[in-house]
Amino acid sequence: MQPTPGRSCPLSYRYASDAFSSAPAIVADTLWIAGGLYGNPHALQALLDAYLADTSNKALVFNGDFHWFDVAREDFALIDETVLGFHAIRGNVETEIAAPEDGAGCGCAYPDWVGEATVAHSDRIIERLRATARSSERDLRALAELPMHMLAEVGGERIGIVHGDAGSLAGWNFSQEVLSTAAGRAQAERDFLRTGVRVFASSHTCLPVLRRFDGERVVINNGSAGMPNFRGERFGLATRISVSASSYALYHARCGSIFVEAVPLRYDVMAWEQRFVATWPPGSDAYRSYFERIRSGPAYSLYEAA
Ligand SMILES: [Fe+2]
Repeated sequence: MQPTPGRSCPLSYRYASDAFSSAPAIVADTLWIAGGLYGNPHALQALLDAYLADTSNKALVFNGDFHWFDVAREDFALIDETVLGFHAIRGNVETEIAAPEDGAGCGCAYPDWVGEATVAHSDRIIERLRATARSSERDLRALAELPMHMLAEVGGERIGIVHGDAGSLAGWNFSQEVLSTAAGRAQAERDFLRTGVRVFASSHTCLPVLRRFDGERVVINNGSAGMPNFRGERFGLATRISVSASSYALYHARCGSIFVEAVPLRYDVMAWEQRFVATWPPGSDAYRSYFERIRSGPAYSLYEAA
């Protein structure tokens, strides 16, 4: 049987068994991690402003899906060039525009609780984005060659940076839905033991999560840097992991000697809404799937996230 585009998780998305066993690619006092920028240049600006104002010894990692709505060529080039000036891993979006796999669609590996219309819209958005990427002057090999995961070290603690979960680029095991089950929590416990990682930072599921585990271990999922994350709110979210606490975290967990924080990205929402609608007018695939969220936030609360 053929896999359904957008529903399946390509085999190439699975990590090798020795993932997270190499030396850390980054050692810093503060690590900013932003997943799910989704081609929003206003959120990118807010992130860079916050990051540059942080005076500690720091690094910034984009953990995938920095492209998505940026089908206008100048937007695609701006996002691509800026993000690749920092550390980055690829999400399913970058993978499926730079090294597409037959039948993967958007590569989202959507679970059953996501409706058919959303999956179909996403598969058509990726086709349009792929056309932009191919006609741009950007070298797409740079996207294809990005790693699928990265190990960093903050305050002597191992930080596993992923797009999906501890086993796959588009895995959903770090979603609120899975981590709310006993089986999901047991899987995460095994992932911590197997990898020796203290904090996993992910993004792919597009809704934020902070969950504590035995031994002061933490899974933090920033949801989306470039879209609203909570009902009635319009800011994006990034993850900040540091030896020192910031004054602007929305919620946080203490993890040994380090602080794991969800940080709001308050971008120019009106400018973004206008830009989004100019590219994705009413009736378009992205408008139908995302405009309501961009304007009013998803049906999700801070209480559910943390
Ligand atoms: Fe993703």
